[in-house]
Amino acid sequence: MCLEAAPKSGCKKSSCGCGGHGRHTPVVNQPDPRIILALKFDGEEAHKCACGGRTCPRHYLALTGFLLGGFLVLHLAINALGLWPDAFQAAVNRNHALGALLPVLEVGLIFLPLTIHVAFGLRTLRREKLKFGVEKHHHGSDLRQWLQRVTALIMLAFILFHVVTMHRWFGGRFDPGHAFSSASNAIWRFWHGLPAGHPGNLLFAQFYLLGIVAAIYHLTNGIATGAEVLGFVSTPAAGQRLWRVCLIAAPMLLLAGLAAWHAFAVR
Ligand code: HEM
Ligand code: HEM
Repeated sequence: MCLEAAPKSGCKKSSCGCGGHGRHTPVVNQPDPRIILALKFDGEEAHKCACGGRTCPRHYLALTGFLLGGFLVLHLAINALGLWPDAFQAAVNRNHALGALLPVLEVGLIFLPLTIHVAFGLRTLRREKLKFGVEKHHHGSDLRQWLQRVTALIMLAFILFHVVTMHRWFGGRFDPGHAFSSASNAIWRFWHGLPAGHPGNLLFAQFYLLGIVAAIYHLTNGIATGAEVLGFVSTPAAGQRLWRVCLIAAPMLLLAGLAAWHAFAVR
């Protein structure tokens, strides 16, 4: 018997060490009061992650992740307009016509949620490292969760590089007046001195490919698991349905991402 509140993934990964086999002599420990407080008796199993039954940090990860997901879908869709540079310029003009509201939206809807998400994400990764099969709050497989964390690290490196090299606040090279050519130069000719197609430049263009693929996995898998964490799906069948929707959305987003990459990086 395992006395601790079992994680949704089953008892075998709980820290009681019973390995799920129940072969050891049961040790009747005094249960931690926080675990008792975190127990739920309405059929939903409780989790254990030292959040003490208060709002779990993973709720913040999922909430901010959903917000960032909205941004990412829009970002990839607008970038796919790069196939038609005039349409891309028109979309950028519309964004920048927001004037003083634009930085407010950028901070409120992108940079602030991203900072909170990354802070909670790094805290989780510092505690649990990239170990396979750690406790989780959803029914997704261990491999899916591990890939969620690997893609998180790839995205962290990519977003830092991408924002610093593109965004005006960091002296980046994106010029809204020449939206297509400036973005394309930043991606395709990272080293000004080297010709396009030189291995030094190709490396950075390929980093974009990696960033796009990682982001689409992280987003689509994260929506499916995050919906469980937030209680948006209440039964395993509903969770499976959402997972299938995400499996269909992933190649569609990949198509938009690859279209953008082709438009900006292959010239
Ligand atoms: C646009 C960028 C991003 C989006 C759309 C996004 C989205 C999401 C979503 C929806 C979740 C699901 C939450 C859940 O299952 O509870 C999640 C989890 C997570 N994200 Fe992100 N994320 C982004 C960037 C990042 C970055 C840069 C990091 C780097 C630290 C990161 C680290 C994590 C971690 C560690 C998890 C939890 C994985 C787990 O519990 O196993 N994310 N993200
Ligand atoms: C070929 C693909 C991509 C292109 C052409 C592209 C282009 C751009 C450009 C031009 C900007 C500057 C916007 C501005 O200063 O107004 C930007 C910002 C940004 N990009 Fe991307 N991007 C791509 C992929 C990605 C991916 C995969 C992610 C997420 C992992 C991402 C995350 C961001 C973020 C967080 C910002 C800063 C927020 C903003 O002000 O828009 N981008 N991108």
